[in-house]
Amino acid sequence: MIPDHVVEEVRARADIVGIIGDFVQLKKAGKEFRGLSPFKKEKTPSFYVIPAKAFFHDFSSGESGDVFSFLMKHQGMSFTDAVKHVGARSGVEVKEVRRGRKADDPWRPYYEATAHANAFFQERLWGWEGGKAAREYLERRGITRETGERFGLGYAPDEWGTLRDAASARGIGEGILLELGLLKKSEKREQLYDAFRNRVIFPIEAVSGRVLAFGGRLLGPEGKGAPKYLNSPESPIFQKGEILYGLSWAGNHIRRQGAALLVEGFMDALSLAAVGVAHAVAPLGTALTEAHARLLGRYTKQVRILFDNDAAGQRATFRAADTLLGQGLHAWVATLPKGEDPDSVARSGGAAALNEFVSQSVDVLDRKIAILEEREYFSSVGNTRDALDRLLSTLRAVKDPQLRDIYLSKVANVTGVQIDTLKAELHEAPRPERGRPGPATLPRRMPLPGVQGLGLDRYFLLVLLKNRDWIEQAGERVGPSDLEDGAFRAIFEWLIDDPELAVPPEGATPEAMQRFEELSGNREVPPDEVFEDVARGIDVRTIDRRLEALDIQMQGAAEEAEKRRLLKDKEDLNREKRALGPDWRRSTHRAARTSRRKGEGAS
Ligand code: UTP
Ligand code: MN
Repeated sequence: MIPDHVVEEVRARADIVGIIGDFVQLKKAGKEFRGLSPFKKEKTPSFYVIPAKAFFHDFSSGESGDVFSFLMKHQGMSFTDAVKHVGARSGVEVKEVRRGRKADDPWRPYYEATAHANAFFQERLWGWEGGKAAREYLERRGITRETGERFGLGYAPDEWGTLRDAASARGIGEGILLELGLLKKSEKREQLYDAFRNRVIFPIEAVSGRVLAFGGRLLGPEGKGAPKYLNSPESPIFQKGEILYGLSWAGNHIRRQGAALLVEGFMDALSLAAVGVAHAVAPLGTALTEAHARLLGRYTKQVRILFDNDAAGQRATFRAADTLLGQGLHAWVATLPKGEDPDSVARSGGAAALNEFVSQSVDVLDRKIAILEEREYFSSVGNTRDALDRLLSTLRAVKDPQLRDIYLSKVANVTGVQIDTLKAELHEAPRPERGRPGPATLPRRMPLPGVQGLGLDRYFLLVLLKNRDWIEQAGERVGPSDLEDGAFRAIFEWLIDDPELAVPPEGATPEAMQRFEELSGNREVPPDEVFEDVARGIDVRTIDRRLEALDIQMQGAAEEAEKRRLLKDKEDLNREKRALGPDWRRSTHRAARTSRRKGEGAS
């Protein structure tokens, strides 16, 4: 392996623009460089290289990282090869040193144990006489051997110690298997015993494909103490609130489709993949968590929820939707026929039937309104109040500023309550609902009341358009790639090129033109002081985005040196974020200084 200080030096000396420029045609955009995404087909360039931060970000695929990650993702290199490649281009000699790898990775024994168990279960399913019932079960459910093998399915025999004995013969420690929940302990039994018995096994993989845990579907009838599905408990390598079943194969399909399907169970995700609908993922027997939503958000912002169409499914749908909205994603709801789940639809009607339902999915707020309308909630004043309460949770959850504005006007429309009243209502503490934690909070990083609901990108540009002499300085601090929205990025780039710009340049997209007109025609004059807060809000947002990307890379990291580098980047970013500070007063002082300076310059 390569020592950390060598990795550091290679990265510090690397010309990231030159190296990525070998693969992507880049053009200067302010202090950044821009080109067409090398990861996803697109017409308008949204791939950025930011030399000052030695970082790239691709808005269309969501990929980001440093020069090594680029080579790993784009060229399929290993971390070590990427460091060597960049070293060769940057004049740094890269030598590997040998070290006992085993001692390096504390999780290695866990992965060895899951890999062994996985191989054991697969062998029991396909290569063992006793696996016949399980093979027949899968066949009845439309899972061919080809599909079953592709997704690593296995079978845990209806016995108490087969995995235990096989693992012990391989020298795998019982302590580890116990921690992984593959073996269990009881008062009644002398020996540890297999946790999964008489179950079809679904391996649960990290994005990297490493097996973290297992799910098991009971072959026989459910009984007491034998639930239909059993999942591995949390362990040092498995946090179920952070892993989505199916993402290891669905990730690329989600990017290509520009949307993800969210289903309830293993069988749903598997059946869909079996009929060629490969962009479905499922949480693991838990409600969708914020971490799940953030994870999905790295792949797409559009999530279509396909849960069972019963009361429980509906509640779970709206809860998942609120979680998604709270992380800046957009939630759609597909309604399946009563009593059906995606698995049964795919079984009876194939991909065509399924896609039909997906294509008819509607925005979650529209779905809520439709349900309330069906139940005649808007027919009387008292009921309208109830309806409003139900819609408010969605309004509170939504984080994307533009979507929030759209939602506000929709709710105003259907309830007859004015937008300002709704906004005031949103600021009040939410009414507690039974049986669920408080809803997602209002946008967190909107420091001053005036910025709320407008969106940082938009507000940033509004301030610049009203104070053109700030543009140059702003361009030093904020880069185009710090803005989240393509049209706003384009406007910022025009302004960097020409701070006095009055009409959009040729080739502008209709959306950017329209935004530009809206912003320049806007009469609102934002107070000077907010600029610093907005700029800082943008800085924090970019750091958060990079932190999330690092978390995801961390899950897929195969080499120790790579993991250590990612960890260090995380620490650095967290430090940077802390330096930006949560203390608004300090920023107000700074803002006051800035505006004073500005006054001096003008006089
Ligand atoms: P469902 O009960 O909807 O099962 O559970 P399903 O997906 O339709 O499965 P089949 O078609 O009967 O085989 C959906 C998900 O809820 C979790 C599992 O993750 C399952 O995939 N679950 C369900 C459990 O964790 N335990 C259970 O006992 C049941
Ligand atoms: Mn089912």
